[in-house]
Amino acid sequence: MTAIHPPSHKVWWKQPVDRVEVVWIGIALVWCLIMFFFMPFWHVFGDQNYSGEAYRVTPERFNEKVNELVEQYTVRYETDRQIPVVRPPAGSDIYLLARLWDWYPILELEKGQTYRLHVSSVDWQHGLSIQPININFQVLPGYEMVLNITPTEVGEYAVVCNEYCGILHHAMLSKLYVVESDRNGEPQS
Ligand code: CUA
Repeated sequence: MTAIHPPSHKVWWKQPVDRVEVVWIGIALVWCLIMFFFMPFWHVFGDQNYSGEAYRVTPERFNEKVNELVEQYTVRYETDRQIPVVRPPAGSDIYLLARLWDWYPILELEKGQTYRLHVSSVDWQHGLSIQPININFQVLPGYEMVLNITPTEVGEYAVVCNEYCGILHHAMLSKLYVVESDRNGEPQS
């Protein structure tokens, strides 16, 4: 019997299971178990999962915090949609908002400084992906995730949404700038 022909016995589920089938079910089961136990294994030994801070936040409150940041530290505007580029003080709390369908604002950070990056969505589930360094996080409305980040390379990074979020998901792109620190040689607070 092959898979493309109908079973020769009408009551096929009462046929004994073929040895080969049992072997494949066994292999699949063992492989499932291996993958299952590798999840906690990599969490502990592979440093793969971020077990950092997350807080409840309302979209309104998060929006307020983002707007405060934009009001205080915007240095210029970019693209024909006039998205603010924000250069917050080194070491501060910074905010990045995901929404249908953009990232707001564009952040400009200093190399070698550590920031507390707060990320949340005000509408839908999005995915924060920073390329090419392969940072990858889910962004959910109602939750504010805090990532401690220290950029190590000057450059222009791509911020991509990697969770399908509707018709313009593919256009939900932005940038992140990392620039040389202004405070060369100065002690860092
Ligand atoms: Cu936002 Cu896809």
